Amino acid sequence: MATETLNYEPIVFTPKLGREEPLTTIQKEVMALKKERNAVILAHNYQYDSIQRVADYVGDSLGLAYRAEEADADCIVFCGVHFMAETAKIVNPSKPVLLPDMDAGCSLSDSCPADKLAAYKKANPNVYVVAYINCSAGVKSLSDVICTSGNAMKIVAQVPEDRDILFVPDQNLGQWVSKQTGRPMKLWPGSCYAHVLFTQQSIERLKLRFPKALVVAHPECVETVRDNADEVCSTEKMVYFCRDNQAEQFIIVTEPGMIHRLQREIPDKTFIAGPTDTCACNECRFMKMNTIEKLRDCLKTMSPQIDMPEEIRQKAYAPIKRMLEWSK
Ligand code: 13P
Ligand code: SF4
Repeated sequence: MATETLNYEPIVFTPKLGREEPLTTIQKEVMALKKERNAVILAHNYQYDSIQRVADYVGDSLGLAYRAEEADADCIVFCGVHFMAETAKIVNPSKPVLLPDMDAGCSLSDSCPADKLAAYKKANPNVYVVAYINCSAGVKSLSDVICTSGNAMKIVAQVPEDRDILFVPDQNLGQWVSKQTGRPMKLWPGSCYAHVLFTQQSIERLKLRFPKALVVAHPECVETVRDNADEVCSTEKMVYFCRDNQAEQFIIVTEPGMIHRLQREIPDKTFIAGPTDTCACNECRFMKMNTIEKLRDCLKTMSPQIDMPEEIRQKAYAPIKRMLEWSK
């Protein structure tokens, strides 16, 4: 049993009712450039609030993939990490796709290199590869179907019964889906460097300070954190859970950018950033590479842009298309 020895001050976001700041000069510049370029700005829930506030759509990986596919603007500016912007290009190849910082990668995506997956498939030809969307276009091109944290259960339930599933690259999401669906699967040994820093003890200690708060965790967290959470879900579903639940306080066990979205949509509740053992919050260093200045500059210069060989794009599109159809 944990005792409350917090070596940090918790980050508490109290109800935000009527406290929206006016747009800054740079944000206004972004809005003007967006109009001039006829661009659509898609932003992940983990982006800085300054970016979320000028985006046309803020959401999880699944919502963003749908929005990218249907975008009819002249260009897509993707504020997220590289694999997300790459997915936008795969589903909507005729549009330029801008990513404010090309170095915004993902440790989870990096944990499954395409050549290693190709070697595994060669040695295990009957394997059916379900790939979490947090992977490169190369890995997607070798996969049978893609899933996100928002639709993983639905997707796995539709995989033919006679196939052995290999789930890549997140062992934590894979373990959670396997437990929920009862479907055995081999798990690629990858993980998100940020989500695995949340521990059962770090959450239990914070719970002692906020006993009425419900714990909402992302499935990329380790099993002991997931098992002790009141809800485990994708970032999008966190919005519905916190809105529809009677509770007034929630401990959000994922990247803290999520709390900006929660505050905007549920301004009358309190959100507390999930802590690690040593720190009050746990930002993803890759998500935070995009800044409002870089967003403005990429709209000005129309760079950097996502590019990939057409052959890889077409091969990567097939499992994404399957996902988009299966998850309707
Ligand atoms: P969501 O699809 O739930 O937003 O998750 C994306 C992600 O990168 C989590 O770390
Ligand atoms: Fe990747 Fe983890 Fe950052 Fe999500 S939070 S983008 S999985 S490194």
